[in-house]
Amino acid sequence: MNAATAPVSPAPVWDVINGFTSYWALSAALDLGVFDALAEEADAGTGLDAAQLAAAIGAAGPGPVTVLAETLVALDLLTAVEDRFHLTPAAERFLVSTAPASMAALVRHSPGPPNAWPGLADTVRTGAPEPTVTADLIELYPALVRATGPTQAGVAKAVAAELERRGWWPEQPTVVDLGCGSGAWLTGLLQSRPNGQVIAVDLPNVLPIAEQAATDIGMRDQVIAVAGDYLDVTLPVAAADVVVLAHVLRAEPTDRAQQLLARAVELAGADGVVVVVDYTRPDPVRNGIGEDGGGAEDRSAVYGAARHELLLSLTMLASTAGLGVTVADLRSWAEAAGAELVDSFEPVPRQHVRLIRSRTPEATS
Ligand SMILES: C[S@@+](CC[C@H](N)C(=O)[O-])C[C@H]1O[C@@H](n2cnc3c(N)ncnc32)[C@H](O)[C@@H]1O
Repeated sequence: MNAATAPVSPAPVWDVINGFTSYWALSAALDLGVFDALAEEADAGTGLDAAQLAAAIGAAGPGPVTVLAETLVALDLLTAVEDRFHLTPAAERFLVSTAPASMAALVRHSPGPPNAWPGLADTVRTGAPEPTVTADLIELYPALVRATGPTQAGVAKAVAAELERRGWWPEQPTVVDLGCGSGAWLTGLLQSRPNGQVIAVDLPNVLPIAEQAATDIGMRDQVIAVAGDYLDVTLPVAAADVVVLAHVLRAEPTDRAQQLLARAVELAGADGVVVVVDYTRPDPVRNGIGEDGGGAEDRSAVYGAARHELLLSLTMLASTAGLGVTVADLRSWAEAAGAELVDSFEPVPRQHVRLIRSRTPEATS
């Protein structure tokens, strides 16, 4: 059968429908404590059959538990040996609530406010979600930043090591963390520089979380907490060795995102560095001509490879007027602010870090 006559499969459509049901299978399993119950048995290595699992999670009987557990096996979150269920390594590491790298809370909060999604068509039509949806996101931020804190603390430590390697991490650094969230970045950075100082900026309902994080590591005195819009609050210009913009640009409308990057460049001055961490969308097509200049470029593989980043950008669009951010945006915004994107690295999978610095007189001459 040649390509012209091959039947077209509905699999991509089913994959999308199944994405919705898979999400709720995982949510239910987390609500029921399925992974935690199996973790308790993990040392014995015997797993649990459906009746034992039902008893462990307080379900009425094994029938519904069997359907759910078998589905979780199909989703690669459990394994089944004979009639017993076990955790996969991914479930053990990321879905057990007490695991250090647990994503259990993130599963709940990563999609943003639930009411953002039914309104997505209207958001695309009008360019912005209902104000109530954005208000819901702001209310959700405390839970969201707590859920992402462990990952971000790891990224921050890796960035401190990289800045040190480059000689951009003085013994007593001043850091400005714009949209500091859980405080994972400021604590991650301060731990390698106990004499450093951080100016931490976030919205009034979120800032106490970062303050508490600093208190918890005995470094509250080194943190100046500034509540308000990071584009409006008063901050010292050209005083920061490092300005952190972690996972904030993609949630802002383009004009505000550009202003925010310009502000970060201004705060870093000639000698500081702006650290941008974000899930970037693929760069736009250049004049509709392929990279090699030879005809139209098939971009499908580019977008396919960026599925995670695109869906996270769409998640932002669903609850803010943000359109995500591309590397081309970062380059042109940096240039407009008299700076340049000097390097990129990926210290933790999917966490791309971009370093932006003011153009030095030598570089511009
Ligand atoms: C996705 S979280 C990232 C938190 C932190 N930077 C991290 O990477 O873990 C976005 C943060 O930006 C904050 N934020 C959103 N809009 C803001 C604004 N206009 N001014 C200050 N902070 C804001 C949110 O409250 C939230 O803490």
